[in-house]
Parts: sequence; C-alpha cells; structure tokens
Amino acid sequence: MTGLDSRNALLAALNRPSSRADPYALLRRLREVSPATVGPGGTMLLVARHRDCDRVLRDPAMSSDYRRAPALSSVRQTRMFVTLDPPDHTRLRRLVNKAFTPRAAAALEPRARAIVTELLSTADPDEFDVVSGLAYPLPLRIICEMLGVPRGDIGLFADWSDRLTQSLDALMFRGDLADRDQAQHEFAAYFADLIAHRRGRDGDDLLSRLVRVEENGDRLTEDELISTLILLLTAGHETIANLIGNTLLALLHHPDQLAALRADPALAAGAVEEALRYDPPVQLVARTVRGGYRIGDLDLPDRTLVLVLLGAAGRDPGAFPDPDRYDIKRGSTAHLAFSAGPHFCLGAALARLQTTVVFESFAGRVVDPELVEVTHRPNVVMRGPGRLVIRTGGIAC
Ligand code: HEM
Repeated sequence: MTGLDSRNALLAALNRPSSRADPYALLRRLREVSPATVGPGGTMLLVARHRDCDRVLRDPAMSSDYRRAPALSSVRQTRMFVTLDPPDHTRLRRLVNKAFTPRAAAALEPRARAIVTELLSTADPDEFDVVSGLAYPLPLRIICEMLGVPRGDIGLFADWSDRLTQSLDALMFRGDLADRDQAQHEFAAYFADLIAHRRGRDGDDLLSRLVRVEENGDRLTEDELISTLILLLTAGHETIANLIGNTLLALLHHPDQLAALRADPALAAGAVEEALRYDPPVQLVARTVRGGYRIGDLDLPDRTLVLVLLGAAGRDPGAFPDPDRYDIKRGSTAHLAFSAGPHFCLGAALARLQTTVVFESFAGRVVDPELVEVTHRPNVVMRGPGRLVIRTGGIAC
C-alpha cells in the first residue's frame, strides 16, 4: 500500500459507522501523518495538527467557497455566508452580528434558565433521554424566539435541519447531494412564506429586522435573506444540542470530573469548554486554496480542497498536555471548536451561555446520573449522540 492509499484508508475508516462511538484513535493517526495529500490522486490537502489548522483557518489565501474545488463545482449554490468570502461574507455577517454579541447572549440567560427548569421538571428521573428531552428543545426554542419563528412551526425543522447537517458528510465524502437540495428547497419555501407575512410589519425579532434591510434593497437580496435564516436556524441549534450531549457523555465517562462538578456547579463553564476541545460538535471544516499554498514540503495548486480536522487538533499533544484526559479544570480556550479567523463562530457566546446554564442546573438538580444507553448520530462532520438515556436518583425542581 502506498502512503496515499493508507491515508485514504484511514479517512474512509472515519466514515464507517463503527468509528462513530470513538473516532479519536483514527484522528490521532491522521494527525500524525498530516499535513498530507488525500483523496483520489491525492488532490485534497488534509491538516490535523493544531498549529496547521489554526494557520489555515486564519490565512486570507484560503477561501470558504468549497464549490471552487473541481469535484464540488456542481454543488447547488446557496448564499449562506459561512461559505462566502469577503466582501459578501463581511457584508452579510455584519447585518446579523449585533444579535450575537456576548452582551446579547448574556441577556438571554434568564430565558435559558427558565426553559431548562421547565424541561427538567417534566423529565422522567428513571429514564431520561437527554437528547430529545433537553439538548434539542432548549437551543431550538431559543433560536426560534430570537428569529421570531412561530413556536407551532418548531416541529417542521427537525427533519430539514437533520437532512442538511447529514449532507455535510456527503459534501466531504462525495455522497449523494440530491436530498440536501430537496431539504434546502423545502426550508427555503417555508421562509419565503414567513417573510411574505412579515413584510410591512414592525416586529422586533431578527427575521423582521432582516426583512426591513432587504426591503431597502441595497444590502440584502431575498436569496441572501433566506440563506441567512436557514444558516442561523440550523447552526443555532444542531451544534448546541451536540455539545450538550458530548459534554454529558464526557462527564458520565469521567466520574471524578462529574463528582467535582456536582460539588461545585460553578465549574460548569470549565466542563463545557473542555468538552469543546475533547469532543467538538463540528469535527471538520473545508477550505479551498486561492492562488497557491505551501505547507511543509507540499505545494498545493489553486482550488485544492482542504479538510481541516478540528477534532484532531483538539487532541494534539503539541497544543494540549495529556490531551486524551478530560479535565474540567484545564482552563484552556485554545481549542478550535468554534474555528478561527474571519469565520469564527458567530454563535460562540450563545452556545457557551446555554450549555453552561444546562450544566449548572444539571449539577445542582440531577442526583447520581448513570448512563443507560447511548447511540451516536450517523454524521461525521456534526458529531453528537442521537440518543443518550440516563437513570437518576431524582431530579430536584
Ligand atoms: C457548540 C456550538 C457551536 C459550535 C461548536 C459551532 C461551530 C462553528 C464552526 C466550527 C464554525 C466555522 C465554520 C468555518 O470556519 O467554516 C461556525 C460558524 C458559524 N456559526 Fe457556529 N457553532 C456553534 C453554535 C452556533 C450558534 C448557537 C449559532 C447561532 C446562530 C452559530 C452560528 C454560526 C454562524 C452564522 C457561522 C458562520 C460564521 C461565518 O462564516 O462568519 N453557531 N460555527
């Protein structure tokens, strides 16, 4: 087997269902051979060391438009700003930036606390699926309230957003993208309808404010408006749901850390930050080379697709001592779970806030949680449990 064949075999193994429960041994091997070329004929670049990932993410020579890669050029265009470059990226991000500042996130704390209390009060202490009973409903309700999406419509989003997040794997591993296009189409039709209803009204929610910008006509087209709404709604809940699941799983697998958190709920923020490093919800982001790029002894031509393995970077011993240890007092925020550079996650403060509120409440109220069952979602790029059932000694209200 050539070096390229064995690297491709490792990458293919990452995509196997049997790797879902724990991909980190494979990620370690990929990190050790990186930076390296992978893919058919070695046409993609893989970076997995913390230092290289950080450099690629911050480098203006890297484009976020994956459709520039020849293999992905037929993928249907959307105007989600996560895949755009300046100046369009800057313009669209600026329009929504204010709603996601740390101060705006902090203002939502009482609301997040109230929702967590309500959800815990209806949980069955003997058999509680934390994914369906807490991890999904909390962020979905918060982002819908921020956007001004009717509460009665929440049930519609699970399926569309599940199909969109699964399609991130199809993009990376060359799967079928027809379902992605269909989900995108259904989501877009829903928002087009909602926008039509909001026109000419004075609502203070984010959707109504964006509609008014679009009505001005010079800064936002309807296509951009719809793409932005789909991006905010999906990114605003899928990731947090996975982070809540991944953090709880890490705690359940490390009883000493769970005991420390239960003894001092103020350690919740540390437990969340460490889970972002140890088991990040977004495992991989993509870039394409603009012009040319040199890394190590590799020279990559224009339009090379670059896979940035954030999950591998978080376990890099070159950046984090004893990286396979989950330590809620580590005190490091140097992970790349929220990316870095111009596309640094817009919702990072909101995600930290909601997940910290969950684990403060959890530490104070849930007595002796024990893992009964866990199944991971089939996705590689968006990683988290699809079902996480615990048994408890009681849940205090
Ligand atoms: C634990 C939770 C979250 C994680 C791990 C996460 C992770 C990420 C990552 C890795 C990126 C960068 C993608 C890239 O570099 O190509 C990103 C971008 C983004 N995230 Fe998050 N995210 C989370 C929560 C949220 C929330 C709550 C929102 C709220 C709406 C959000 C909205 C966005 C948006 C709009 C972008 C695009 C930013 C840009 O392109 O400038 N995210 N996120």
